[in-house]
Amino acid sequence: MNAVTAVAHPNIALSKYWGKAPGLQNVPAVPSLSVTLLGLQTRTTVEVGVARDRLVLNGTEVEGAATARVIALLDAVRVRAGSTLPASVTTQNDFPTASGLASSASGFAALALAASRAYGLDCDAGEVSNLARVASASAARSLFGGFVELVPGEAARVVAPPDHMDLELLVCVTTEAEKELSSRDGMNLTREASPYYGTWLTEAPRIHAELRAAVLAKDLPRVGELAEKIALAMHASAFAAGVIYFSGVTTLLYQHVRRLRARGVGAWATADAGPHLKVITSAKDAATLAADLLQVPGVLRVLRAKPGKGASII
Ligand code: PMV
Repeated sequence: MNAVTAVAHPNIALSKYWGKAPGLQNVPAVPSLSVTLLGLQTRTTVEVGVARDRLVLNGTEVEGAATARVIALLDAVRVRAGSTLPASVTTQNDFPTASGLASSASGFAALALAASRAYGLDCDAGEVSNLARVASASAARSLFGGFVELVPGEAARVVAPPDHMDLELLVCVTTEAEKELSSRDGMNLTREASPYYGTWLTEAPRIHAELRAAVLAKDLPRVGELAEKIALAMHASAFAAGVIYFSGVTTLLYQHVRRLRARGVGAWATADAGPHLKVITSAKDAATLAADLLQVPGVLRVLRAKPGKGASII
């Protein structure tokens, strides 16, 4: 039996992936750029040569449809490795579920890395990232550390290392509930029903290119401004299809961040397929800002995260 353990970290997109290119390989329709987060991690062990495929998630065995994407990733690895051996997958997040951070990104990044090594594949990080992408496109970015870009049809790649610029992310947790609509379903509905989806597909790459340049220039105010703009454009296209991830608290927080900015505070907002708001700021302002955001009615917790490293075998 061959057991391999990998760790990976969640990421938050500064420029957003929303929408899939036609085809089966889960290729994003638009480019995205994310920050891999320090301190929060998924730890996954893959053991090859057991009696049957098994998944244990946070200490509980998972069965049925919930295992489909995990088995599909194992199958993709087995095809490449020329193996038919079953595997057990044991995975643990050290950050709370409903923390507002997509555990699919760190989960599938850790799984792709552990599984490819456990089945003896000698592929590079880009190929492992491509395997992860088929399960969850945001997971392709979590293979790498720092500022990471995912361009349609290409493997994810590092744009800049974790210490490249002074940036911290504050995750305002607004609910403990699981999200009602998965990002996959939300993207499909947006493509099918939003009159603004076409505009999103042309605008997102343009804003992404500007944001990428602002990251390379270490220009935090410009990065924040563009990140806020692209997240609102993504949600606007989704809204128009009836896909609403915002809650009342998300909206309150957006207004709060705008008021702070009017007072000269360097804070910019972004949100993903859920009601939690993520605030982009500098390390020097992070502690004061986190305490301030916690006072907004409906905010349960504020998690702080700096840019961190990519997935690794332990
Ligand atoms: O890869 P998924 O299915 O978790 O989708 C991620 C979508 C967003 O979080 C909204 C944006 C992004 O680029 O991470």
